[in-house]
Amino acid sequence: MPFIYITRAVPDAATELLAKGLPDARVEINPHDRNLNRAELIEAAAGCDALICTLADPLDASLIEDLGPQLKVIATYAVGYNNIHLEAAKARGIAVCNTPDVLTDATAEVAVGLMIACARRFADGDRLTRSGGFTGWAPMLHRGHGVYGKTVGIVGAGRIGKRVAATMKHGFGCEILYFSREDHVDWENDLGAAKVELGELLQRSDFVSLHCPLTPDTRHLIDADMLKLMKPTSVLVNTARGPVVDEAALVAALKAGQIAGAGFDVYEHEPALAPGLAELDNVVLLPHIGSATHETRAEMGRMCARAVIAVLTGQEPQHRVI
Ligand code: GLV
Ligand code: GLV
Repeated sequence: MPFIYITRAVPDAATELLAKGLPDARVEINPHDRNLNRAELIEAAAGCDALICTLADPLDASLIEDLGPQLKVIATYAVGYNNIHLEAAKARGIAVCNTPDVLTDATAEVAVGLMIACARRFADGDRLTRSGGFTGWAPMLHRGHGVYGKTVGIVGAGRIGKRVAATMKHGFGCEILYFSREDHVDWENDLGAAKVELGELLQRSDFVSLHCPLTPDTRHLIDADMLKLMKPTSVLVNTARGPVVDEAALVAALKAGQIAGAGFDVYEHEPALAPGLAELDNVVLLPHIGSATHETRAEMGRMCARAVIAVLTGQEPQHRVI
């Protein structure tokens, strides 16, 4: 009887599929409305054949070892997998699977929404209105910057970055710049996008949206020096991974007026925020909800379940990272 452990409550779609595909399995779910610490996770999940985890579970080499030798598959409820020690999993013959594609639209919506929210100052406008500060229409009241026809710089040329670029191009007539290690002729052909170096992208863009994975190369890719290259009217949006930005440097840049605003869905020391960030008016701060639509979260759950079912029944899972 296989034992499947799920580190956070997930939509029923996932457990229903597991019950269908692996009717004999024992499925246990973290009963708490919080992430488990290391000791709790080991105690609850040791001996499992399959682990469905989240991006908030740091699965380092020793934790993977402590989960026991029968672990065959780790299915992470996320597209990003920087929290999982892939080499350790590989060395133990554990398949690691993720949930790509299904969250592309949902995450792109958040990135585009953050650009508009920052440019047009939605969050502080909402605070102003709620607090009684809206005392009547006025020509000078709460002006922001427009979005149509501006230049959007996309860092990382994957699926989500391309969806954001397409929305800004086709929906808002924006000019698209992108930074990526590889050439992407489809970006040039489909979007008229220009590939540029990161420095040039930061200098020319009115909106910079981050869509690269977190790797040793991209940690603090946007640091104090890079922020200095941005325009004082420009907005930085991060829906990728917090540590891609030096968050303390971001706070300093916002305070100094080096950039106009920032829209963040992810944080360097998530869920903690860099000191001073929450006190700033020109930021919109979301609680890592890129993929958080009912539709997407249900499908992510089904994808994790399918990956577990495939591996435990000796088939090749569809979305295998390693
Ligand atoms: C969300 O951040 C994900 O990686 O799915
Ligand atoms: C404050 O009320 C906000 O929604 O930002």
